[in-house]
Amino acid sequence: MRYKKFLAERASWIKGSALAEVMKKASELQSRGVKLISLAAGDPDPKLIPREVLGGLTGEILRGIPASVMYTPANGLPELREEIAGFLRKYESIDTSPDEIIITIGGTGALDLLGRVLIDPGDVVITENPSYINTLLAFEQLGAKVEGVPVDEDGIKTEILEEKIRKIISRGQKLKFIYTIPTGQNPTGVTMSEERRKALLEIASEHDILIIEDAAYNFMKYEDREIKPLKALDKEGRVVVTGTLSKVLGTGFRVGWVIAEGELRDKVLMEKSPIDFCAPTISQYIALEYLKRGYFEKYHLKVGLPGYREKKDAMISSLKEYLPGAEFTVPIAGMFIMLFLPENADGMAFARELMERKGVVVVPGKPFYTDESGRNAIRLNFSRPSREEIEEGIRKLAELYKERF
Ligand SMILES: Cc1ncc(COP(=O)(O)O)c(C=O)c1O
Repeated sequence: MRYKKFLAERASWIKGSALAEVMKKASELQSRGVKLISLAAGDPDPKLIPREVLGGLTGEILRGIPASVMYTPANGLPELREEIAGFLRKYESIDTSPDEIIITIGGTGALDLLGRVLIDPGDVVITENPSYINTLLAFEQLGAKVEGVPVDEDGIKTEILEEKIRKIISRGQKLKFIYTIPTGQNPTGVTMSEERRKALLEIASEHDILIIEDAAYNFMKYEDREIKPLKALDKEGRVVVTGTLSKVLGTGFRVGWVIAEGELRDKVLMEKSPIDFCAPTISQYIALEYLKRGYFEKYHLKVGLPGYREKKDAMISSLKEYLPGAEFTVPIAGMFIMLFLPENADGMAFARELMERKGVVVVPGKPFYTDESGRNAIRLNFSRPSREEIEEGIRKLAELYKERF
């Protein structure tokens, strides 16, 4: 059967993710019995997730709550929305109400829904350059033209952002929102400074543009100081937040949220219903009990975060030891470090060779970029591998680096 003629025109905007290709190749090698060290995934560590506790909660919920195997309202379990509102007030200084929270299938569901209700084909969307590949794909699949603004160690470069906005407006193009991951950015690991956060809000206000704040890594912060989300600094309702418990509970639960007000909230909700009915009910109940019984404090803050901090430090030490002089980012939040190979190096070719010859899986940075830059970038994940794997993975990466450059 030839299906091409049946496909919608917009299907031609759908592109595969280079990330999925890396993972596919890795699993092919693994199925042939090749042992790999993966520094590629965007997952937390199953050993740093209280699986025993979650197992207990799951059994208790399934046995005790008949509604746990049924649909919830499309915007999610009311008790969970209430709990998350309190949780965000306490840990993020975000003042929101359960009514403004819609529980989604992870942050991914939240971003897709926002894209669907905000983007018309041909609209321009500004993102950081580089930015999270799945979101870039999601927006492009809806017909958006993505324009990137470079980041440095303080986050998005706001002067360049301002110039870019002026250019877009002067070309007569429609610009609706800026998508940003201010804390523990994917793929760079960079966290936006408070000064830049304020500048970003001012620029958006001046040009009347929405901001989508992707808070995926806001609960993965390794320093004791407060990092206020954009939403907590926003006085105009200009910031729409997408959040998730993926990195805390585990990526498999698929519990995320949008915080939106007014007509935007209403349209997101109407769009959502025919797509998924509701986020997984059992996961919503587990998330509710996890938060309500204080496991975020008792476990994630006390055991999880120190574990991830140690692994981040181990990766930085290994990079310094085995690749002295190499350029890489030093994150204070998130799960990633971006390593830059020498300027003219091909990160794609390097990643392929590293997997095939040294058994180490990393993600080339190039697909995260909105332009032709980033050819020499490599994204490294420190949250999922063990400390031993991090050390061995970086040592092997350095062997190939020295052979090649
Ligand atoms: C920046 C960013 N946003 C959103 C997500 C989506 O996460 P989830 O759909 O599991 O909540 C991820 C996952 O890696 C991410 O890195």
